[in-house]
This record gives sequence, structure tokens and C-alpha cells, in this order.
Amino acid sequence: MSLAGAKAVGRPTAPEAAGANGAELGSTEFAAIAAIMQSDARIHLAPGKVTLVQSRLNRRVRKHGLDSFKDYVKLVQSNAEERRAMVVALTTNHTHFFREGHHFDHLRETAMPWLKKQAEHKPVRIWSAGCSSGEEVYSIAMCLRGPDRGTASWLDRADVKLLATDLSPIVVDTARSGVYPANAVQPIPAPYRASWLRPEGADFAVVDEVRKMVTARVLNLFEAWPMRQKYDVIFCRNVMIYFDDAAKAELEARFVDLLVPGGYLYIGHSERLIGAAATQMKPAGHTIYVKEGR
Ligand SMILES: C[S@@+](CC[C@H](N)C(=O)[O-])C[C@H]1O[C@@H](n2cnc3c(N)ncnc32)[C@H](O)[C@@H]1O
Repeated sequence: MSLAGAKAVGRPTAPEAAGANGAELGSTEFAAIAAIMQSDARIHLAPGKVTLVQSRLNRRVRKHGLDSFKDYVKLVQSNAEERRAMVVALTTNHTHFFREGHHFDHLRETAMPWLKKQAEHKPVRIWSAGCSSGEEVYSIAMCLRGPDRGTASWLDRADVKLLATDLSPIVVDTARSGVYPANAVQPIPAPYRASWLRPEGADFAVVDEVRKMVTARVLNLFEAWPMRQKYDVIFCRNVMIYFDDAAKAELEARFVDLLVPGGYLYIGHSERLIGAAATQMKPAGHTIYVKEGR
């Protein structure tokens, strides 16, 4: 996506978006929609996103039998269910398996030896925050299991759980199912594909040993978190680009707080730590950070 990368909300610079394929989104309605995105998901809609917002929401306008964004905004302002659906429709869920491969190299080579040691005396917890349809969390799980079935025996003796969360119930359903079309599983290195996927009709399913390591649930990152214990690894990649600096700083500080000393935080390729998190985390690779105090 890029709904991000923004200046101030509510000052669309684009002319009224043309409505070749549906209702036109005017600047007042864009501002109202941007304000909802900011308050509900902390997603910052830049003024230049008028056309994108219009095209993503036109289907919902039609679904409700409306023919103007004015009426749609009225609906959203009075109907909590549609308001949630609108926020979901305006998220971008682009992802793929083994995205940003250097993170998985680091996980295998540096984090995993430490995680194995951790697992000898405590539960190990890993979070994919903003997981989209689950490709990220299953890439992590496959790395932990290793390229072939014989290398994962340490996991059988350990308490290792992965949590995958996202704002959008639609993508969380896919993450929970662990079933992907053939083209989606292509980026998985061949040995991992052979070990940890099985055909399911025309698709591929993550095998039970891997799928059962993962709990997928809906969570807005700016609401209360369900964790009752500290985490060893957090992936939050290509999510914070959609937030303004205040929201990023707040979220990153909460991630740091949740990590055990020595725990790792992986962020997206164009992201950086700001605020308190920047002083509490030590760089451990490109867009990889380790919490001080191990
Ligand atoms: C571009 S995807 C990134 C997926 C994956 N982390 C990756 O890097 O491939 C961004 C995800 O963040 C989610 N997201 C955006 N705002 C969120 C929020 N406030 N709370 C939880 N998830 C959010 C979106 O629904 C979307 O699925």
C-alpha cells in the first residue's frame, strides 16, 4: 500500500476525484474518512490518497445502495460495523513468504541459537504484529523447524508459540487456515516447501506441525494487548509506515517493553526506530534490533 508517507490529514490537494467508476469523493468526505482512520487505526491518510480511497470504498458505497460519499460517510458515522469494515477496506495487506530474506538469515543464524538456549529454561514467544495473511509468521515457523523434518527435534522438547495478529479479520482468517495458492508459496525455499507444505486441491496447506505453532487473532495494535508474558522476538514489518511519528514512537516503546532483555525486534526495510525505543535497542543488522541487558 501506501496510504502513508503523509503530511497533514484533511487537506486534500487533489481536485475532487473523478467518478468514472462510481461515486466521487469530495474533500470534506475525504477529511472525515481520514479522521476516522486516524482515530481508529492510527493510519495516516495523506492528502494525495483521494483517488485510492475512492476506488477502495466505491464497492462499499454500492453495497449499501448509496450513490454518494456524503451518504456513505453519514452511514459510517452512525454504524459501528460499517465503520470497522471501512477501516479494513482501507488497509493494505501486501505480503509474501520470506519477504526481506536477510531477516530470516539473521533469525536462523543469530536469533535461533539464542532462542534454543532460552527454550531450555522458559517458554519462547514470538509475535508477528500486523501479520496480514500469515506468510510472515509461517516463514518464521518454518525457519524454526529447519529445512528438513529431522532438524526440528529441539522444538518437540520446548514450549515455543507464535502469535500472529492483524486489524483485518479477512486476512486473519487466511492466516488461521494456513492455505495458500500455488503462486503464493513460490518464494518459500524448495527444501522448506517440500518439508512443511502439503497439496490441498489446487492450493498448498501448511502442515499441522507448523500451523499448530501459530495462533492467529484480530488485534488493533493501538488497543490493549492480550499477552501475559514477555516476548523473545517481535516482527512488525511494513506496518508502521502507515502511522504518524507519535503513533510509531508509542508503538515501538510498547514493543521494547514487551521484549525480554536480549530479545529481537525486526522492522520493515524503510522503517526506523524513533523516540525512547531508539535509545533502548541496539542495532543487530539492517532493520534488526536487540534489546539491551541480556
Ligand atoms: C503491508 S501489510 C504487512 C504484512 C507483513 N508484516 C509483511 O511485512 O509482509 C500491513 C498490515 O498491517 C495491518 N495494520 C495496519 N494498521 C494496523 C493496526 N492499527 N493494528 C493492527 N494491524 C494493522 C494491515 O491490516 C496489514 O495487514
